[in-house]
Amino acid sequence: MAHIKPKRGPEPVFPPFEYSELLSEANFGDWRDELVTKGYTVIKGAVPREKALAARNEAFEWLEGFHLGFKRDDPSTYKNEYLPNHMKGGMIHGYGIAHEQWLWNLRAEQGVVDAFAKLWGTDELITSFDSAAIMLPSRTDIVDAGRWEHIDQSPSRRGLYCVQGILNLNDCGPDDGGLMILEGSAPIVEKFFDTIGREETRTWGPVDFYSFTDDQHQWFYDQGCTWTKVCCEPGDLILWDSRAMHYNVLPKGKTDRTVAYICMAPAKLLSEEDRQKRKIAFEQYLGTTHVPFAALHLRPHVPGVRVDTGLPDPLDTGIPRNPREATDRVLKLSGIKAY
Ligand SMILES: [Fe+2]
Repeated sequence: MAHIKPKRGPEPVFPPFEYSELLSEANFGDWRDELVTKGYTVIKGAVPREKALAARNEAFEWLEGFHLGFKRDDPSTYKNEYLPNHMKGGMIHGYGIAHEQWLWNLRAEQGVVDAFAKLWGTDELITSFDSAAIMLPSRTDIVDAGRWEHIDQSPSRRGLYCVQGILNLNDCGPDDGGLMILEGSAPIVEKFFDTIGREETRTWGPVDFYSFTDDQHQWFYDQGCTWTKVCCEPGDLILWDSRAMHYNVLPKGKTDRTVAYICMAPAKLLSEEDRQKRKIAFEQYLGTTHVPFAALHLRPHVPGVRVDTGLPDPLDTGIPRNPREATDRVLKLSGIKAY
């Protein structure tokens, strides 16, 4: 153990969480058992295949709609200069994307809502205002930033806190871009921190995040954890426990990775203060992190800086080109309208 950074920090300080024991035992008799034991699961056909592919088409129309020169049938346009701002090969956060109608349509899909309803035991849910990723294949103008193994939960929390989702809109095989999960890490990550200690202070970044060093990985390998590339089809919903170590990989083959990040949780977890923040986010088309009910760090929209010009992108107004319609379902999933 001497090779692992032995920082002995404070014991967990967060208040008890109502659902912390929800995934403690694999005795459901359905996909929730895999979520418990492996830390992730794939819900096949949460959205019908054709609908998912149609949403991928909408995503590409959205991309082409900036009129920067990107054309889906011309790989020579798979370059920063022809694309809106993005990070890590295709994760998009600007342009009010979180509130585009095509993305909201996916959040409102019955199969997506049903999956989270089964998980939490209630269909009174709120959703994150998270974004999408369109990772184009065979790009020559970007450098693979490499692995960034992390969990999306503070080391100081006890038990379950959040289950994240990726709605897959394209075929996703072994060579295609996608999610890497350290199978078996979720159930033992708390033991890891109890053993090696917790960071004493945080100096940057969100609370619900921890990035692991290479030598810390060995502790998990010694416990039998193994990396898995999650493969799935259009319309499949990947769910993973935020305690599972994960990162993503860029496409290696000829297939684009097009996904929507969707995370839902019980509406009753939302405090009145956070409800007001979500109302502002909704009205101003702001995005949030994956946690729908807390940590809502609202900031006014600032246009992203383009890598090709070094200047703020005049197209990044923060307003969606086709903003979501405020239907009853959308308002309830936003947390603005009570169930
Ligand atoms: Fe993550």
